[in-house]
Amino acid sequence: ISVQDRGFQFADGVYEVVRFKGSRFLWLDEHLARLERGLTALAIPGVGSRDRFTRVLPELVRRSGSGEGSIYLQVTRGPAPRDFSMPISAVPTELAYVAPQTFFTWDQVLAGTTACLMEDIRWTRCDIKAICLTAAVLGKAVAAERGASEVIWVGPDRLVREGGSCNLFVVRGGEVWTHPADRHILAGVTRLRVLEIARESGVVVREEPVTAEELLVADEVFLSSTLRDLLPILRVDGRPIGRGQAGPVSLRLAERMRAVVDRELSADG
Ligand code: PDD
Repeated sequence: ISVQDRGFQFADGVYEVVRFKGSRFLWLDEHLARLERGLTALAIPGVGSRDRFTRVLPELVRRSGSGEGSIYLQVTRGPAPRDFSMPISAVPTELAYVAPQTFFTWDQVLAGTTACLMEDIRWTRCDIKAICLTAAVLGKAVAAERGASEVIWVGPDRLVREGGSCNLFVVRGGEVWTHPADRHILAGVTRLRVLEIARESGVVVREEPVTAEELLVADEVFLSSTLRDLLPILRVDGRPIGRGQAGPVSLRLAERMRAVVDRELSADG
């Protein structure tokens, strides 16, 4: 990778994280579609990227010899002499590698996680999965300082947006509330599945934000992401959510999510 790569010098690119097991990928088409939307939004010429990744990824996983894990994909604008203007003829850099890993056990889902509230210091195009993750890194550090695992971004209007690297859901009176998929959040692939599963299970879903104060007195809070599926958040800012245990709505949806993921990732799925 060139030292002049726009990804290296400007964080000028997009990425995806996709889960796999054996030769199966979890919702690969949706991830590649989002990658393509990001490339279009940033005017990075992504012609053929999607097809190339679709062709190369199975071989990459095969050669890695790993049975389970995630794939990191990245496309940057490519190498060009350092200049803020978009280069006319840079060839995008496409990268993919395999990270072998295991995923959460049911006991870990029950154990849940913790979070802290923080002012959203990110830009206003969080719908683009851009590789500039400086704010997320700072957020994670603040969370660690406060003894929490994840940060929850709160807008200047006190509305809760999403987590540092996940989407966020709040259960109030049996209904699931989550921020609408606008420019303040990433439209998570897992988020969409959570909403589908909730609706199928007869749970009312509201794509409307709640305030930080409403979140603190919610019955349940949970997050979703490729690497964590659906995970209950049991404490926020050191205060227990509900009874401080994984709640019934979260667990019902988490159970259903595991079944859906297992089916997608099973060889005959
Ligand atoms: N993060 N919101 C943000 C800010 C994210 O970074 C992510 C994913 C999500 C969830 O999206 P999905 O369900 O499509 O994974 C929401 C990835 C996993 C990461 O950066 O590692």
